[in-house]
Amino acid sequence: MQISSAQAMALEDKYGAHNYHPLPVVLQKGEGVFVWDTEGQRYYDFLAAYSAVNQGHCHPRIVRALQEQAGQLTLTSRAFYNDKLGPFTKFITEYFGYQRVLPMNTGVEGGETAIKLARRWGYVKKGIPDKQAKVIFAKGNFWGRTLAAISSSTDPSSYAGFGPYMPGYELIDYNDLAALERACQDKTVAAFMVEPIQGEAGVVIPSEGYLKRAKEICAQHKVLFIADEVQTGLGRTGKLLACDHEGVRPDIVILGKALSGGVFPVSAVLCDDEIMLNIKPGEHGSTYGGNPLACVVATAALEVLRDEKLPENAERLGKLFREEMKKLAHACVAEVRGKGLMNAIVIDPKGPIKAWDVCLKLKENGLLAKPTHDHIIRLAPPLVINESQMREACGLILRTFASLEK
Ligand SMILES: Cc1ncc(COP(=O)(O)O)c(C=O)c1O
Repeated sequence: MQISSAQAMALEDKYGAHNYHPLPVVLQKGEGVFVWDTEGQRYYDFLAAYSAVNQGHCHPRIVRALQEQAGQLTLTSRAFYNDKLGPFTKFITEYFGYQRVLPMNTGVEGGETAIKLARRWGYVKKGIPDKQAKVIFAKGNFWGRTLAAISSSTDPSSYAGFGPYMPGYELIDYNDLAALERACQDKTVAAFMVEPIQGEAGVVIPSEGYLKRAKEICAQHKVLFIADEVQTGLGRTGKLLACDHEGVRPDIVILGKALSGGVFPVSAVLCDDEIMLNIKPGEHGSTYGGNPLACVVATAALEVLRDEKLPENAERLGKLFREEMKKLAHACVAEVRGKGLMNAIVIDPKGPIKAWDVCLKLKENGLLAKPTHDHIIRLAPPLVINESQMREACGLILRTFASLEK
């Protein structure tokens, strides 16, 4: 059944929960960096499903892997072995240089898994007294919508009205090494969980050297360093992992989003034996985690990243993007910042122009982006974007700003 954009939006509004406020565009098709709406209008996708579509929409190699496996075997649960999980565990651990992987589905489940692993390690290996393990987070963090995730949030729109909250968390300022050092003195701290660049907070980039020093502080105090690379990982910032910019090897890495190239939810937690093997059979898992479809899709998604050199492309075209954005002369623009293809235009929050209105104008001009926190526009296209597409998209952004009333 072919429906119009208006019909699609009306149906969702009437029958769906009102937990999102989408831009008024109804998408029907995607290919590479482009998406099309139900009326056939083409747009540059500069959100890339919050960085889940790093490999571009409907990447043929990933879709082929999905299709071939879908007709063969999709789900067995972990009650039995399947013939794809073993090879996938070898492939992904070698790819990232860890001894073990624990596959889950969504990013937030990856975060939950990492915290369970850290708490268990804290009790078994660090000798933290039972039920006293703490995890440190940075203010402004975002790692999803479960009760455990919102319990670490400092954003009322995430946590307010959903209490009681998860105990055992401690919050420190992001990019504050002295605060981390102080917090790590507490012998009941098992881990520090951090985004190498805070995505939802508005592409907040810590000072150079922060991750490296943070990892050292953690190591000195026998505290695990958990990198939430769900958004920053898989080439987005110009390296395979954002931690690679500082040569940091986290104790635990959480991956999600682009691990399936946007095909369906696949997440994974990587770490070594010393941490992973403290969880025994029956103590953690998920019906869909490690399903054969996910294994072949994630393998294809990782191969595409490597074979098409997408981190390198992100590095190069990210520089071009920020160079072009230097021409953004509009008074409402406070800052353009980013790393690789994870960028943001910050609109002066005190000015008359709202990020939402800019996004509506960008949409009219053929580019989709979404505000975060009212005044920040995140610009994160699929990493398969090429130079001429990037130049065209930048021109479109510059023209859109030029057309805004001063
Ligand atoms: C850094 C980070 N971690 C975790 C998540 C949660 O991922 P998911 O929405 O797949 O649960 C997100 C989602 O935006 C994220 O940005």
